Amino acid sequence: MQNFEKLGAFYLGKHYDEASEKTTDELTLYDAKDLTTHAVIIGMTGSGKTGLGIGLIEEAALDRIPVIAIDPKGDLGNLLLSFPDLAARDFEPWIDPSAAVDAGETVSTYAASMAKRWRDGLAKWGQGADRIAQLRNTTDMCIYTPGSSAGRPVSVLKEFGPPESRDSDAMREKIQTTVQNVLTLLDIDADPLTSREHILLSNIFSDVWSRGESLDLPRLIGAIQAPGIDRIGVMDLDSFYPAKERFALAMRMNNLLAAPGFDIWSQGDPLDIDGLLHTATGKPRISIMSIAHLGDNERMFFVTALLNELIAWMRKQPGSPTLRAILYMDEIFGYLPPVANPAVEASFLDAAEAGARLRPRARARDAEPRRPRLQGAVEHRHLVHRPAADGKRHRSCPRRAAKRSRQRESESRADRSYVGEHTEALLPVAQRP
Ligand SMILES: Nc1ncnc2c1ncn2[C@@H]1O[C@H](COP(=O)(O)OP(=O)(O)OP(=O)(O)O)[C@@H](O)[C@H]1O
Ligand SMILES: [Mg+2]
Repeated sequence: MQNFEKLGAFYLGKHYDEASEKTTDELTLYDAKDLTTHAVIIGMTGSGKTGLGIGLIEEAALDRIPVIAIDPKGDLGNLLLSFPDLAARDFEPWIDPSAAVDAGETVSTYAASMAKRWRDGLAKWGQGADRIAQLRNTTDMCIYTPGSSAGRPVSVLKEFGPPESRDSDAMREKIQTTVQNVLTLLDIDADPLTSREHILLSNIFSDVWSRGESLDLPRLIGAIQAPGIDRIGVMDLDSFYPAKERFALAMRMNNLLAAPGFDIWSQGDPLDIDGLLHTATGKPRISIMSIAHLGDNERMFFVTALLNELIAWMRKQPGSPTLRAILYMDEIFGYLPPVANPAVEASFLDAAEAGARLRPRARARDAEPRRPRLQGAVEHRHLVHRPAADGKRHRSCPRRAAKRSRQRESESRADRSYVGEHTEALLPVAQRP
């Protein structure tokens, strides 16, 4: 068998021969350099996109490449269910008792058969438990739950600081995204050119940041009522946005701030990219941003805030031909829509562009880059992901797929309405409410 432990090559599985419908012995080794810009995994629902993503993340971590993974569906927490001993006792707390009953087993015998299934499954792909141990030893893994203390909370709203660079483009860009973001949280759909709210907040941020100062939400509420600005454009402030109406906007923000549980947004680890990518001792991290429990506005708000931090971080990095870090998002549906233009879309495009700029342009490329074929990738081993419940590979039967898709969509709608349901998956079965 070829060696798959080459630095910079991600072992994703083996090639698949379509004619014979069998995997060949040729390894699918994905060149990490191909991820120095961006990549997208496309496939129908249940086809294994997340499984492939998890494989990529693990392989990156084994190569000491840190990952920030945005998890809108709550599927990536499985990364932490990687047990170096592959012992039944490790699996046991995570076994769903009803699955054991369905299989006609007790929880502990079911856990033992699960452990055996993992060991055998890995062995089939030439891997042993030592590889899991290596993954766990080289990487720090953590699940963040912004807006909730079920995992580690992230402090996003503590302070809105000025951009590090004082150039006018950076200032304008940060004002635009911050204001759009605050308004998203308030559920105000605002056009930057015509909305009074947007123009007022932009003027406030511009005024405060040009003095090198920061704002937090309480100070922003005060500034909306008394902005310390007399004119907006050529109009006096009160004609442009009368005090009574500014008070209504301030109240709306105040109500948000006073909502139960909202303070959690200002607690926890700061949204600091260096800290998300490496521990204080330099160990690479996999930072999973679990956002399945959030409502749509809060998700948009958080993802935009994270991307803005990332863009600012990327702009400070020197160019490099090698892969230094990965931003992975498990589902972009709703974030990069073909029609509407939420703030997050601009942030995604900026991040992608900044990434492309960081690669030295003169880098020689293979005329025909070596890429894995997706079929090969789909027939891929799983290091830690749940095996399919029925143990079968999902094939494309359009009717069944459409049914599964409808089922998943309605399940995910039901899930989103209830924070506890999603965050409880982060607990062993016995500790769930
Ligand atoms: N290579 C694989 N071989 C066998 N089973 C797999 C493979 N990849 C994924 N699976 C199984 O198929 C099921 C669906 O996989 P996954 O969640 O990765 O699909 P998806 O494309 O991300 O679906 P969705 O669009 O709903 O997010 C899971 O139960 C998973 O364990
Ligand atoms: Mg998925």
